[in-house]
Formats: sequence, C-alpha cells, structure tokens
Amino acid sequence: MAVIDLGIDFGSSNTTIYQQGFGIVLKEPSVIALRKERKLEVVAVGSKAKRLVGKVSANTQVVYPIRDGVITNNDAAILLLKKLIARLLPEGSFKPRIRALVSIPCGLSLAERKAYETVMQKAGVNEVTFIDTPIAISRLLSHGGVVVSIGGGVTDVALVANNEIIDGASINIAGDAINNAITDYLYEKQNVKIGQATTEKIKLAIASLYANDTSSIEVIGRDADSGAQRTFIITAKEVCDLIEPLLKKITDIISSMITYAPTEVAETMTENGIYLCGGTALLPGLCEYMANLVRMKVTLLDDAQSTVINALGTLVGERDKLAEFLKLTKI
Ligand SMILES: Nc1ncnc2c1ncn2[C@@H]1O[C@H](COP(=O)(O)OP(=O)(O)OP(=O)(O)O)[C@@H](O)[C@H]1O
Ligand SMILES: [Mg+2]
Repeated sequence: MAVIDLGIDFGSSNTTIYQQGFGIVLKEPSVIALRKERKLEVVAVGSKAKRLVGKVSANTQVVYPIRDGVITNNDAAILLLKKLIARLLPEGSFKPRIRALVSIPCGLSLAERKAYETVMQKAGVNEVTFIDTPIAISRLLSHGGVVVSIGGGVTDVALVANNEIIDGASINIAGDAINNAITDYLYEKQNVKIGQATTEKIKLAIASLYANDTSSIEVIGRDADSGAQRTFIITAKEVCDLIEPLLKKITDIISSMITYAPTEVAETMTENGIYLCGGTALLPGLCEYMANLVRMKVTLLDDAQSTVINALGTLVGERDKLAEFLKLTKI
C-alpha cells in the first residue's frame, strides 16, 4: 500500500506540512470558518477563513481551534486538518496510508496530548508519532542548549541535552498575548477599538524591544463610545512599554530554569546559550534584550518561523530509527 510520510506543525497561528520527497507543501493560518446548519459545514479554511474574521453573519463562526498551544475545539481542529491534508492526496478513490511526525508543546498535560491524538486520528492520519517541539528543534543543533520557541499562542522553553529535556515548560505568552496587550491598551487608554488585522499591522510595523525607537504608525480604529472612525497614532515606545513585561516573564522563566538546574547542566547551558525560534522570535531587538538580562549568548535560528517544520522535515525520513532513539510515542 502506498504511504505518504508527513511532518506536521499544527500551531496556534499557522499549520505547516512537510511531505517526504517534496519538502514543505502547505502553510496556512490555523483557522476555519464554519456554518451551523443541521451539521457543521466548512465555509473556508486557512487564509480564506482568516480574511473572514469579523465579517461573517451570525450563523457562521471563524475559529482558531488551537489556543495557547492547546486544542480547544476538537471538531474544528479535525475539520481543518482533514481539509488541509485532503489537498495533498491524489484524486480519485485510492487512499494512501498516512503517517505523520507531529510536533507538540513540551508542557502538555496527558488530556491535552490525548486531544492531539484524537484529532490526528479523526482527521485521517493512520499512524502518528509525537515529538516535543524543543527536541525537534534541537535536532538541528550540533549540541544541546536552552531551546526557546515563541510562536503565536505558546512559548516552549526547554533545557535540552543529549536529546532529552532536562527541564521544560510551555507558557501561554507569545504573539497572541502581545496582540491582546496592544488591543487592550488602545481600548483602555485611548478609547479606540481595533480589529485583529490592525493589531497585527501595528505589531509588524513598530513592535520591538528597542526602548529608544522613535518610529510610530498612523492607523484607523473606531471610537469605543460613538463607533465613529478615528485615526490615531501609536508609537514604538508605547508598544515597547506594553510588550517588554511579557518578554521579561519569558526571560525570567529561562533564568530560573538555569538557576535550579544541576550544576553541570547549568554550565553546559550557559556555555551553549539560548536558541530562539518561532514567529515571535522575529521581534526586533529580542535577542539583545534577552542576552542582556540572562547574560548568555542568544542565537536566532535561521528561518525562525519555519525552524520546527524544517526540523520535522529532516526527521521524517528517519522515523523508524527515531522511535527508539528519541523514545517517542507512536499511536
Ligand atoms: N516579524 C515579526 N515580528 C513579530 N512577530 C511576528 C513576526 N512575524 C510573525 N510574527 C508572529 O508570530 C506568530 C506566529 O508564529 P508561529 O507561526 O511560529 O506560531 P505557531 O507555530 O502557529 O503557534 P504556536 O507555536 O504558539 O502554537 C504570530 O503571533 C505572528 O504575529
Ligand atoms: Mg509553533
């Protein structure tokens, strides 16, 4: 029977799929628009669904099925993944067997992990192997170190040595928390309401960890009382002040993990430093900011938003050896 081997990064913001023999074959926002008829009907998935945020009628919902790295809507997650995987299958009635190597946050509870298993199976994946995100990333490094992936919903922090997580945690502070901080600030301090796309535009244009950045951006929102359109300016300094405490919390967790690690591990970590990846790791000034606080070398990994899928790509071909080598779970 023909087999399709996939690497799947089913993230809170984006889903990326690698197919053995082809490379990265799909990247779409992890979002689905569903209409409630007698049963759930898929209106759109991925970027088409993302364009519908805030523009749908009452009986249609636009859902991000993974929040903070945790599956919060099983049905939506299954339908989304099914639709995305269907794009990779040959036309006709012939159904190949699908095997997948899937990255998951390292701090999931058993129930949260079980939800990923259920979703994968119900979405049509016949054989799944899970790998903790920091372990996958560490396979691209020549040695261990502090692996930090800052995505849309979750930040994974792990001390990795010899293919093992010595200490690790998943924290619900990442890109979405930054967006919420910006939206809440504008509502509370300037009485302006803005949509998701505007928040993202502000972040990508001016968010940084450079406290002396003098840039600013003019955007349009709605007055929270009258609903009238309002043009306003937000400065990079204001955004930096908002997001710095969030990045400080992540940095504090890294520091305390190193403080409480066994002496030899702490020495190795300090020597090798921090390896950063994930979309939010692209925030300008973040490496310098962290390096100053933890007094360690911080390296932004190449192609940071695709590090995890690139790592899964290198591992997909070695799946059989992987299970024994990395003590992975197969279902
Ligand atoms: N240049 C940039 N500067 C700051 N943030 C960015 C940049 N590019 C992308 N992002 C943010 O990165 C996040 C998405 O990153 P990524 O694709 O790694 O997340 P994910 O893997 O889907 O989510 P998670 O791993 O948290 O489940 C979004 O919040 C996005 O706004
Ligand atoms: Mg991710």
